[in-house]
Amino acid sequence: LERTFSIIKPDATERNLTGAVNAVIEAAGLRIVAQKRIRMTRQQAETFYAVHKERPFFGELVDFMISAPVVVQVLEGENAIAKYREVMGATNPANAAEGTIRKQFAKSVGENSVHGSDAAETAAVEIAQFFSGNEIVG
Ligand code: GTP
Ligand code: MG
Repeated sequence: LERTFSIIKPDATERNLTGAVNAVIEAAGLRIVAQKRIRMTRQQAETFYAVHKERPFFGELVDFMISAPVVVQVLEGENAIAKYREVMGATNPANAAEGTIRKQFAKSVGENSVHGSDAAETAAVEIAQFFSGNEIVG
């Protein structure tokens, strides 16, 4: 079984959609094996999105990620990384397929409700940024 890292972003936690997002995750056959609600620090958000630091929207992205609590999660399942990307839908909700989390809940390309790792290497790094091994219970 594969693991991926997920974030339920501020636009979703603010609208009390944590359970609704989790229902879509679980209906897709992914198991939530670790989860905690945190307020991200600016440092954590800058580290997490460091790959985007030269992008014009970086400042806006970091400000958004620290604007309200987030729920960080580890999801486990067969092909969890690709499966969760499919369940999330396209980055821009205008392009997201019917039934996806972003189609149902996202407000805009920036405030798009969820994050999911894009590859095995990034999943490992992202999980390690927020969870220690004993917090993940498969
Ligand atoms: P993540 O799972 O969050 O990494 O989304 P993604 O992989 O679908 O998109 P990408 O890695 O390309 O971008 C990371 C995040 O930056 C997106 O999820 C958005 O929250 C944000 N983002 C991307 N493009 C824009 C943009 O044009 N404007 C703003 N404000 N934010 C953007
Ligand atoms: Mg990404």
